[in-house]
Amino acid sequence: MKSKNKQYYDQNAALYDKLLAPVDGTLTKWRKELVKDAFGKTLEVGIGTGKNIRHYPPGITLTGIDSSEKMLKYAHRRANGYTHIDRIVKMNAEELIFPDNTFDTVVASCVFCSVSDPIKGFQEIKRVCKQNGTILLLEHVRSQKKIQGIIMDFLNPISYGLYGDNINRKTYDNLVVAGFDPSQIEAVNIWSDIWQIFRIKNN
Ligand SMILES: C[S@@+](CC[C@H](N)C(=O)[O-])C[C@H]1O[C@@H](n2cnc3c(N)ncnc32)[C@H](O)[C@@H]1O
Repeated sequence: MKSKNKQYYDQNAALYDKLLAPVDGTLTKWRKELVKDAFGKTLEVGIGTGKNIRHYPPGITLTGIDSSEKMLKYAHRRANGYTHIDRIVKMNAEELIFPDNTFDTVVASCVFCSVSDPIKGFQEIKRVCKQNGTILLLEHVRSQKKIQGIIMDFLNPISYGLYGDNINRKTYDNLVVAGFDPSQIEAVNIWSDIWQIFRIKNN
């Protein structure tokens, strides 16, 4: 059976960029901030329609994966003409086919709100990222403020039901459970404490 989010992204791939249009300016600023530190062999998990592709710094080689074939169709289109792309393929974040210690950088933006098993996904990222490599995440997370957090818990079934999107993920906690060293996780608030950029050293 298809997961809720896979169903959503397969059905709405053609609309995805249009739905993001009202917040594209802000998201583009955050995307640039996220990927500017990518280096070397880079994996983007949940590449979607490829909105980050044009923002990568020179010198990287990019492998992109996503579980939705329909989203990937747009990513392939967007990748056209860029020389830093190695390959863009269908794959599940929880079951990466790459050997251990493959990538210098792993990137994901707005992905771990919808990955069904985020801890398994983070364990896989940790495994395929080289020792001392970098993981860069842009995610919306559950607020730690009491009332906001409770509201997000309350609204989560609606968001999940409509979009396959969990608005109350405790992403920092999930990273720690997945085995990342807390002292190596930098979480920067970029909008209240709900949107965060994570920079993680894999050691
Ligand atoms: C909100 S979109 C973000 C797309 C893109 N990263 C961006 O910033 O525009 C979430 C993406 O994650 C993908 N995704 C969700 N669960 C996944 C999984 N388990 N494995 C791989 N991709 C997944 C979806 O198919 C979708 O393309």
